[in-house]
Amino acid sequence: MKPRVLILYYTFTNQTRRVAEAMSEVLGELDCDVEECTIEFIDQRYRLELPDKPKLLRTIMSLLPAQLRGKTGAIRVPEEVLKRDYDLICIGSPTWWFYPAMPIVSFLESPGARQLLENKRFAVFAVCRAIWWHNLRQVKKMAQKQGGTFVDGAAFCFDGGYIRSELSFISYLKNDADLGRFWGFKIYKFGVSDEGIAMAKEFARELGSRLLGTVSRFSSSAIPAQPHEEHSHAGVRETAI
Ligand SMILES: Cc1cc2nc3c(=O)[nH]c(=O)nc-3n(C[C@H](O)[C@H](O)[C@H](O)COP(=O)(O)O)c2cc1C
Repeated sequence: MKPRVLILYYTFTNQTRRVAEAMSEVLGELDCDVEECTIEFIDQRYRLELPDKPKLLRTIMSLLPAQLRGKTGAIRVPEEVLKRDYDLICIGSPTWWFYPAMPIVSFLESPGARQLLENKRFAVFAVCRAIWWHNLRQVKKMAQKQGGTFVDGAAFCFDGGYIRSELSFISYLKNDADLGRFWGFKIYKFGVSDEGIAMAKEFARELGSRLLGTVSRFSSSAIPAQPHEEHSHAGVRETAI
């Protein structure tokens, strides 16, 4: 029987989706039975909608106090997904102010998380502009608390390091196009870099190979340290398995 893999993620600006789709493609090629599922953030207090660009920065800032206090909000995950039995669950977590995005925390604190993760293996992929370490660590800890067994983690980033990627982010929120310059600075294209997507595929290839037993089996893995350097990096992939 094919190994069954779930890629469960939240996305707002579609970068976690891009990574999830890249991973899904590779796992499918490896003959895994892959399912993608998004966590919907349906909380009316925080109306995050991309077409609402003029108000978006203000809405994002209004989330800050609740996010920093680790508050949760209303989410939706299909019940049939929570009931299914998976060989591996990959959790995709966007980074919001250094930590997992509120919808991810909301899911991981819900009874549905225990239903899905108890006695199951899980991997984590963090998506960010540049800073991912607390996100990855927090998701690992919360999913373990729900009974899951951590097998591996990776993070995928934008080009441009912390400052320039912030400019790309603001430019993206204010404009529909990638303008190349913002406030007089050269900026990189918004989103996880091509190199980051290639690394995500490599990450999925390795997870899939382990599931299929073609390389050494899963065991517990350590999350690598966040590099201190400011220069751009596509992501981090470390196999301590
Ligand atoms: C509210 C908010 C806070 C963010 N905070 C951080 C941060 O602390 N560090 C970082 O590297 N990126 C941060 N980002 C950038 C996101 O991690 C990045 O845009 C990523 O693509 C989000 O995933 P998504 O595109 O799937 O929504 C933040 C984005 C938002 C919307």
